[in-house]
Amino acid sequence: MTSVDTRPDAAFVVERGRVAWVGPSGQAPAADQAHDVGGRAVVPGFVDSHSHLVFAGDRGQEFAARMAGERYAAGGIRTTVAATRAATDEQLTATVARHVTEMRRQGTTSVEIKSGYGLTVLDEARGLAVARQFTEDTTFLGAHVVPPEYADDPAGYVALVTGPMLDAAAPHARWIDVFCETGAFDADQARAILLAGRERDLGGRLHANQLGPGPGVRLACELGLVAVDHCTYLADDDVSALRDSGTIASLLPGVEFSTRSPYPDARALVDSGVRVALASDCNPGSCYTSSMPLCVALAVREMRMTPAEALWSATAGGALALGRDDVGRLTVGSRADYVVLDAPSYLHLAYRPGVPLVAEVSGATV
Ligand code: NIG
Ligand code: FE
Repeated sequence: MTSVDTRPDAAFVVERGRVAWVGPSGQAPAADQAHDVGGRAVVPGFVDSHSHLVFAGDRGQEFAARMAGERYAAGGIRTTVAATRAATDEQLTATVARHVTEMRRQGTTSVEIKSGYGLTVLDEARGLAVARQFTEDTTFLGAHVVPPEYADDPAGYVALVTGPMLDAAAPHARWIDVFCETGAFDADQARAILLAGRERDLGGRLHANQLGPGPGVRLACELGLVAVDHCTYLADDDVSALRDSGTIASLLPGVEFSTRSPYPDARALVDSGVRVALASDCNPGSCYTSSMPLCVALAVREMRMTPAEALWSATAGGALALGRDDVGRLTVGSRADYVVLDAPSYLHLAYRPGVPLVAEVSGATV
């Protein structure tokens, strides 16, 4: 099932942070404390399976230039790399904390955080150590772009990423990711990096087919990765590879919104039987939003997902994209991470875009 199961007049019991019972409110067992949300909708906390919160600096000018007609390109990442290298651990930690708080206010209770703006052995390791203070789902993205000091030696940079940088990053990471795109890393480089990560027990994920068609999505499926993210430009055989492999397609509609690009064809993916996740991709370049409700609204308005599909993708879909079954749902045994909306139905997440509907957030934010 890739759509939410809704229950009117429902209740659930929480015991030691887990859901212990779910059913009609009239049949709820006795509990130490009761909390009546007054008919408002309760949804699982959002699972944001893709973010780049370890950064410094601001690229508002780049955004303004884009809105005036310039195209988004991978090279802007180097601006943030310079600022991130110059920041202290304390500054980076404070920035991540601020954004995690911002996410939580908007209903996110689980988040994945990538490195990728350090791009030296030391800066990638410290970025991941900073991220680890906030979540177990940390991702080593040393292969974000080739940094300026390796501009003439991309093979040397891949050797660094798969060697000493991976050694330093692996203790702080659960995942490894590569930006597989023109201007970043090609499919052979991506394969070598993902396989090196696999040797170190890091799960693979990929940024692919964001700026144009390419081999990334098929590579992710061939390697059996849990998720491949962006998926904006897909050919028919990309879609069938996703369906056959079970790799989750994580769509990041805030990126298309913020780069004024065409949206991925979510309708075709869902109708083909591909499992879709929605995530924010919160980063200072291509998409500086931390709002999962915005992603849900964009998915419905711009990508033709139903509100029920979009909510599933932003919760259970995000959990699948992180290989987790304890979050993204409110069923017996799952973590009791939930959001009370100031609304009678989850439909309002898309129906009332931009309105701060999150009234209460319960559970962890990791
Ligand atoms: O997911 N695509 C690669 N990385 C980020 C953008 C990073 C940036 O522009 O700073 C993304 O869109
Ligand atoms: Fe990203």
